[in-house]
Amino acid sequence: AGRKKRARVLAANKDAARFYHDYLKGPGGQRVREYIAQRQISPRTATRFGLGAAPDQWDALTKALTAKGYSKMELIDAGLAVAGKNGGIYDKFRARLMLPVIDVRGDVAGFTSRILPGEEGAKYLNTPETVAFKKGRLIYALNFAKNTKRPNLILVEGNIDVITLHQAGFDNVVATMGTALTEEHARILARYTKELVLCYDNDPAGKKSTDRVLGILKNADLNVRVLQLPNAYDSEGKPLKQDPDDFVKRFGPAAFEKCLNGSAGQNDYRLESLLQKHSLADEEGRMAFLREAVETVASLQSPIEREIYGNKAAAAGGISAAAFAQEVERYRKNRA
Ligand code: UTP
Ligand code: MN
Ligand code: MN
Ligand code: MN
Ligand code: MN
Repeated sequence: AGRKKRARVLAANKDAARFYHDYLKGPGGQRVREYIAQRQISPRTATRFGLGAAPDQWDALTKALTAKGYSKMELIDAGLAVAGKNGGIYDKFRARLMLPVIDVRGDVAGFTSRILPGEEGAKYLNTPETVAFKKGRLIYALNFAKNTKRPNLILVEGNIDVITLHQAGFDNVVATMGTALTEEHARILARYTKELVLCYDNDPAGKKSTDRVLGILKNADLNVRVLQLPNAYDSEGKPLKQDPDDFVKRFGPAAFEKCLNGSAGQNDYRLESLLQKHSLADEEGRMAFLREAVETVASLQSPIEREIYGNKAAAAGGISAAAFAQEVERYRKNRA
């Protein structure tokens, strides 16, 4: 029964994706077309990613798919419709930009959707967990990125970040579905690449997520780098929000390529974060930096890595490599 149900859900999703895509191209799709253009997504890219528009109606999709023979229950199972009062159902997605989420096999697992400017509600709304839509496993655009000739995959936060970076020539960009990366995501990614580059938003939330993800990736069979986007400021010197989509539009693909080439290995990134966190100008800050650096270096499994990053941390903290190494080994013994 499980396999049959899944096949029906996938079929309904595929028909829904076609419905939303066709609606985008017709008269009712004008607002979403304008929004896509405003985001500087070309019609060609929009078609490649199967973008669509959900009508500003309560039951447009439900009617179309019911006419194709899907039952109410099947549409609810697919997450395309929601049960209403008195036995009716209505469309889950209304008046939104629709982004189908294609799994690695090429099936439409579900959707994410964005609100249009000037509307009230959640900015992004996803398909709920279904037999086909498992957020802890799905990786957006892996169906394209798995064929890249580039030597790594780049993980970003947002679906639009993925789309504009692909359009800019980075066909190795992927994202999780609004949730943080899981160990299962990491295992899947490791099947397709040897190196993962984290490129989260340049804001406190993005930095926090980066640290969390580095923790999760510790046990993964992946070489990990961190691409930190530079800070950006407006003409009055106020800091601007900057995610990969903002960056590539402001500065272009060559500038992004440069950041990519300059991205730090995860251990250098962690030491750099500690240096940013503590002021080394005063004794207290220096001690706090060294304490945390000892913990960080002690957590490295390879003695070679402990020596390399221990030497760097010692130099940054202004003490001898020997004293730092001694602290690291003492820390490891006490913890064992
Ligand atoms: P952001 O707020 O950084 O979104 O959240 P974004 O991708 O830059 O959105 P745009 O550029 O305004 O369109 C990053 C990701 O977090 C999830 C989404 O997956 C989003 O892409 N998110 C964010 C949600 O699931 N729900 C929300 O309401 C907001
Ligand atoms: Mn088409
Ligand atoms: Mn953000
Ligand atoms: Mn954005
Ligand atoms: Mn963002």
